[in-house]
Amino acid sequence: MPQMFKLTRIPTLKTVGEFRNHVASLRIELPCEETILTGAGSPLARPLEGVLINGKALSNRYAIQPMEGWDGTTNGGVTEDVLRRWQRFGQSGAKLIYGGEAMAVRPDGRANPNQLIINDANKADLAKLLQALLIAHKERYGNTDDLVIGFQLTHSGRFCKPNDKSRMEPRVAYRHPILDQKFNVTSDEQVWTDSEIEQLIGNYVEAARIAWEVGADFVDIKHCHGYLLHEFLSAFTRPGQYGGPFENRTRILREIISGIRAGGNKIELGVRLSAFDFVPFRPDPALSQAGKLGPGVPEDFSRFLPYRYAFGVNPQNPLEYDLTEAYQFVDLCAKLGVKLVNLSAGSPYYNPHIQRPAAYPPSDGYQPPEDPLVGVARQINVVRQIKAHAPRDLLFVGSAYSYLQEYLLHVAQYVVRHGWSDLIGLGRMTLAYPTILADALEKGALNARTICRTFSDCTTAPRNGLISGCYPLDNYYSAKPEHVRLKEIKKAVRA
Ligand SMILES: Cc1cc2nc3c(=O)[nH]c(=O)nc-3n(C[C@H](O)[C@H](O)[C@H](O)COP(=O)(O)O)c2cc1C
Repeated sequence: MPQMFKLTRIPTLKTVGEFRNHVASLRIELPCEETILTGAGSPLARPLEGVLINGKALSNRYAIQPMEGWDGTTNGGVTEDVLRRWQRFGQSGAKLIYGGEAMAVRPDGRANPNQLIINDANKADLAKLLQALLIAHKERYGNTDDLVIGFQLTHSGRFCKPNDKSRMEPRVAYRHPILDQKFNVTSDEQVWTDSEIEQLIGNYVEAARIAWEVGADFVDIKHCHGYLLHEFLSAFTRPGQYGGPFENRTRILREIISGIRAGGNKIELGVRLSAFDFVPFRPDPALSQAGKLGPGVPEDFSRFLPYRYAFGVNPQNPLEYDLTEAYQFVDLCAKLGVKLVNLSAGSPYYNPHIQRPAAYPPSDGYQPPEDPLVGVARQINVVRQIKAHAPRDLLFVGSAYSYLQEYLLHVAQYVVRHGWSDLIGLGRMTLAYPTILADALEKGALNARTICRTFSDCTTAPRNGLISGCYPLDNYYSAKPEHVRLKEIKKAVRA
């Protein structure tokens, strides 16, 4: 049974030496460089000339991860909050906007009633969003010839709440012995039929057409975080042509891509993959008290071995990853003409500590069961292994760097310099401090006051029906009435 451990907070590590000593004490591999480099001397400022995306060569190694805000209109259109987020993506200086945010390919596939929907009715809004980003980038950096923008296409599957923020309407790939209970799956009727999947594939193809017509360079066919297409990758127990062997579990991806190309759509392709998973976690009941979540412990999986309900785990011990199928999947992506692979892990809904390592849990999470640096290092090392295995012309984006805080650039420089990843993707840090790379390259130093401290308010807010954003550090959100409500919610949880 894990005990509460005393977390060493990153800001208490005053030098690179102290950071390295702490990393060594954790017995993990997380190398970093001595200083933050400026200008062309930084590996993060090196262009990626070998691979063109829609005719463009990326001129730096910074990618903005998809970050949704739970803040669209209920028709899936764009609001001022969405526009502002995309403008800040543009101002960041990142040359790869990897997906912007998850956009549902159909209304019933939304994870919340305010998720963007990519359909003909919202085309003008999406075009406006793209333009806002391009203008913001051009104003600050002079040109957009090397800026690559994608739209992330999704169906939320098990996590659908399309109509009411508090009503789950899940549609799943298969019945899951642990997750069904957590996410209100009670009947086989919630499982997709093969003929429904054919329709769904058509929705993805249509969404890719709209993305191309609106002006996106690529679409990301999202296979991560427990959402629908990720869940299909672990549909080992599903009968029929979309379950069982690897070939069947990846059929949806093949059919979406062949549908996109059959229509003559030349849009480039990316895939965001949760390359590994663990069983679901929950707060340790023995160490949870009123108002205080205990550290995460795995749900009891002993009755479900060998574990056939997750992608990228060791079926004999689903607390260990196994990359065999991730290698196969990435090879398949390359064969299908995918150029960008963005690697992530697990799911924010059932094992957030492996997906977005944080010092402070969201309200539906648990205290960290391990030093969050262990989670960061796990993802970095997985990307390194998969990239080493993969065809050379695929570009890789790595995830989960935000927890590194003061040492983010030191680690990112090492990772890129040594070819462990082509690009460094930033999620939560982007909300708090979008110009982190621009500052680093200009000044060789960061503004400590705007560094994301992983308070998880950007997750706690939407878990409680509020828009997402960086409430602690971005005045735009701290000044909103939602901030008062968020503080009340957190206080009530503590009481
Ligand atoms: C508020 C919020 C919204 C997110 N939205 C998306 C999304 O739309 N699509 C996606 O693939 N990942 C999404 N993520 C996950 C991030 O892209 C990223 O993988 C995660 O935050 C870990 O990276 P980080 O350590 O840089 O934050 C979201 C994360 C947060 C905190």
